[in-house]
Amino acid sequence: MYLGMEEKVKEYANEINRRRTFAIISHPDAGKTTLTEKLLLYGGAINLAGSVKGKATARHAVSDWMEIEKERGISVTSSVLQFEYDGFCINILDTPGHQDFSEDTYRTLMAADSAVMVIDASKGVEAQTRKLFKVCGMRGIPIFTFINKLDRDANETLDLLDEIEKELGIETCPMNWPIGSGKNFKGVYDREEKCVVTFSDTQKGTKEGETKRIPVEDKETVLSLIGEAAMDKLNDDIELLDIASAEFDLEQVRCGKLTPVFFGSALTNFGVEIFLQNFLKMTTTPLPRKSEGGMIDPVENDFSAFVFKIQANMNKAHRDRIAFMRICSGHFDASMEVKHVQGGRNLRLQQPQQLMASERKILEEAYAGDIIGVFDPGIFSIGDTICSPKDTVVYEGIPTFAPEHFARVRQVDTMKRKQFVKGITQIAQEGAIQIFQEIASGMEEIIVGVVGVLQFEVLKYRLENEYNVEIRMDPLPYEHIRWIENKEEVDVKKLSGTSDMKKIQDLKGNPLLLFINAWSVGMTLERNPGLKLSEFGRE
Ligand code: G4P
Repeated sequence: MYLGMEEKVKEYANEINRRRTFAIISHPDAGKTTLTEKLLLYGGAINLAGSVKGKATARHAVSDWMEIEKERGISVTSSVLQFEYDGFCINILDTPGHQDFSEDTYRTLMAADSAVMVIDASKGVEAQTRKLFKVCGMRGIPIFTFINKLDRDANETLDLLDEIEKELGIETCPMNWPIGSGKNFKGVYDREEKCVVTFSDTQKGTKEGETKRIPVEDKETVLSLIGEAAMDKLNDDIELLDIASAEFDLEQVRCGKLTPVFFGSALTNFGVEIFLQNFLKMTTTPLPRKSEGGMIDPVENDFSAFVFKIQANMNKAHRDRIAFMRICSGHFDASMEVKHVQGGRNLRLQQPQQLMASERKILEEAYAGDIIGVFDPGIFSIGDTICSPKDTVVYEGIPTFAPEHFARVRQVDTMKRKQFVKGITQIAQEGAIQIFQEIASGMEEIIVGVVGVLQFEVLKYRLENEYNVEIRMDPLPYEHIRWIENKEEVDVKKLSGTSDMKKIQDLKGNPLLLFINAWSVGMTLERNPGLKLSEFGRE
């Protein structure tokens, strides 16, 4: 019996240690979906043979997975995709982009152990990447960079790296180096193996093209494949790189200070497997997580998880929801009893689901590193901890992220005040929107803040359909919101800001400031020495 237990523990440890859980971040159109598809292809999760993404695909306000789902006729609508590769069990977390960019996109990053940043080689660092990067930076998780679309004309490689370093404040270490781009794209130079990997366009990436690996010392062959001009440039670049680029240091990568950079073309499936293999060598096993009682090690502790996302059911008939949780430690068994710490009671998680690439299945077991979705009858809140009944783990809460769009919201029918307040408060508690009021005003004037504009539509729709309340929304011009970090030391009423500044408070009475532009934020800081402002709100 005892031995059986020991073996089980060993098996759990093995399962946990082979897990890699990461999010892919990018600005829309940089190639996140294409790269994900290619990664899944290596895991054998989707057979893409013969399928070509239609050029005319309209991008509606649905997640990329639903886009794929429609095109492929399979169910991949999910928050996480799991696949096996080379003995690893890989969880890719979807970070919704496009119009459905919302606070959930940020929260998802709280559940990942590392991030892959996809950058379009002709565009460089773009707005959405910048925002998502900031959230990754806050947690100090490893960030890997895949510079995509080298089969199209790209910016100068050094400029791209320089931009990442300057704009994002992270050092770069190119693991390979592109040889030309666009029509002149010849492949990449692998710095570790000192060889040239040649590019050949494939049938839209349905299979790995005929790439060749030639040691750079074999000058004749390299010359014949890439030509004299490219060869001369490559030699100069190699020399420069060895002197100028940051040295590879895994420790620095692990704490998010250095990003390994790879070049490729997701569409033609060039450089994707090289990336995947190296990424798996460098990224971490499920990371320990901070709780009120100290760090919780994923292997040494029994089951624990935290809720990072709650999705209202699209089915109007049932007002139930799905709570997504990241398992932080131990082993989960569908039949086991767990403790919902914040709710103060024990329960069995209902209909635990794992959302696989090709199917949604009810799950029997899962391990630290995995994400599960469970039926939520309205008891969970974002940030809640679930753990083994004998423990009491309380994970650090998830911060509130700065909304960027604001509107003043009123109910049309004044008789429906009660439903309006109830509905809007409940939707805010789910984390879909944030609500504020002007300091010293009653609840009459509610200011709603959202990360993505689609949330306004969702709010309107849900209030009408679920609470039978019609609303009027007047957009406000603010784009920047700041929490006052040292609110105990500051007299908010006396703060002297710019003329566009507005003082508001959240439901808990925390003071916040709204600004129309970034300049005003700086000006206000200058005018009020000692004032500390933050883009993230903490409990
Ligand atoms: P996203 O999820 O980051 O928004 O980007 P997605 O993968 O949907 O890619 C955006 C567009 O860029 C798509 O073209 C896609 O085919 C193209 N793309 C992705 N990777 C590469 C690459 O390595 N090289 C080139 N040349 N193109 C790439 P689209 O025409 O907008 O859409 P579609 O009709 O092909 O779906």
